[in-house]
Amino acid sequence: MVMSKFIDADQQNKLEYFRKQIVGLDKKVPLLDGSLKRYISLDNAASTPCLKPVLDKVDEFLDWYSSIHRGSGFKSLLSSHVYDLARQIVGEFVGVDLRTNAVIFTKNASEALNKSANRFPFGDDSIVLSSLMEHHSNDLPWRKRAKVIYAEVDKYGVLDLDDLERKLKKHKGKIQLLALTGASNVTGYVNPLHQIASLAHRYDAKIAVDAAQLMSHRPLDMKSDNDPEHIDYLIFSAHKMYAPFGTGVLIGPKSTFQQGGPEHVGGGTVELVTLDEVQWTGLPDKEEVGSPNVVGAVALAEAIKILKEIGMETIASHEKKLTQYAMKKLGSIKDVIIYGNQDYDENRLGVIPFNLNEFHHGLVSTILSYEAGIGVRHGCFCAHPYVNRLLGTTEEESIKLRGEIKKGNKTNLPGAVRISFGFYNTEEEIDQLIEALERISRREYKEKYKLDEKLGEYLPEDFSFDYKKYFDF
Ligand code: ALA
Repeated sequence: MVMSKFIDADQQNKLEYFRKQIVGLDKKVPLLDGSLKRYISLDNAASTPCLKPVLDKVDEFLDWYSSIHRGSGFKSLLSSHVYDLARQIVGEFVGVDLRTNAVIFTKNASEALNKSANRFPFGDDSIVLSSLMEHHSNDLPWRKRAKVIYAEVDKYGVLDLDDLERKLKKHKGKIQLLALTGASNVTGYVNPLHQIASLAHRYDAKIAVDAAQLMSHRPLDMKSDNDPEHIDYLIFSAHKMYAPFGTGVLIGPKSTFQQGGPEHVGGGTVELVTLDEVQWTGLPDKEEVGSPNVVGAVALAEAIKILKEIGMETIASHEKKLTQYAMKKLGSIKDVIIYGNQDYDENRLGVIPFNLNEFHHGLVSTILSYEAGIGVRHGCFCAHPYVNRLLGTTEEESIKLRGEIKKGNKTNLPGAVRISFGFYNTEEEIDQLIEALERISRREYKEKYKLDEKLGEYLPEDFSFDYKKYFDF
């Protein structure tokens, strides 16, 4: 890694050390020409790889693994203790008051957002204020429970705070909840959460933050319950935090979950059941039906420990440096269109969507994978309204597309290519990406690719990988 001007030697050494702790970092992947190349993951907004200490901690724990809150054997008692300890570590990481708030484990952020929507105490005619920069998982669950309105974004995709306040003011009393992303999974824009929380509270609304994209990149403090800047509900996922073992998190006031019954019922959620009566158990068990995923909780707690050891500020500085570097390099390629503000913006994570003029986003990402061993994501990133806004898709185009998609034809699906960084990425990896993109822009890619209309994906003609050679059961 090149020395960053943002961080000192000690911080740099830590980054170097933990970079080597990424599981599978040196794994070589096959290319179309039959050669092998070290894989470069620039798709951390989708999932981050696993950290070795996380894997080791899971391995160590499995010797002790047993049922949670169900058995009287030592292993069960220890596992239950570890599970509760993990909950505490998660709560402390975001500075929440655990006396008044519950940390509920789910399987991922989407499930946690669905649970938030199911359990939030909406009244009649409630409105949820969301924004145009949301992932579908912080939009669709709310639509099932309330009317959802959306705060605008500007031409770069940055949240329009004036519009947000206008809407809070206009619908004061009806907007019970502001559901907002901490950082966009498309552009990486980070929202000024505490300022916005303060605004929401001023207009008597609560705030739920989808922090799935934010948590492994920036420090976040929920603040104390009576602070106007307090975040009422926080949602995130371990698979974007170097701990991909199936755990998500929902943190919110106990009072929310104390009322009524949980949306999923069964084992673990009750104190007493007769044939005509059910008494729910206390929190958080009431909200975690079935046998909990203690392994996932162990992994997340260990990942938090490592992230703290590296230092969230160090991670943020390194990723800012990478983002600045990538912006500059991408901007120098003829015909690259970067969405969002091309001048590097401090309030942006290392998430950059772009297109290479005249090349389909799917073709670019396929060539990057098959000819350069670089993993990126392309398409609309589960945020159709936001991406269409960024691309400037007209209403007419949108109607035409909807018709085509209904007929199973994804040929003209709009979208972009997205690169996204983790703390372990390097400038050298960005250089390799840039080199590959330059080759594509000069049409110097090797193979013929064909669009699969149904998938909306480009695939090389007459070729498929022999996956069995790399992993099998
Ligand atoms: N939400 C993840 C992404 O943006 C899956 O790719």
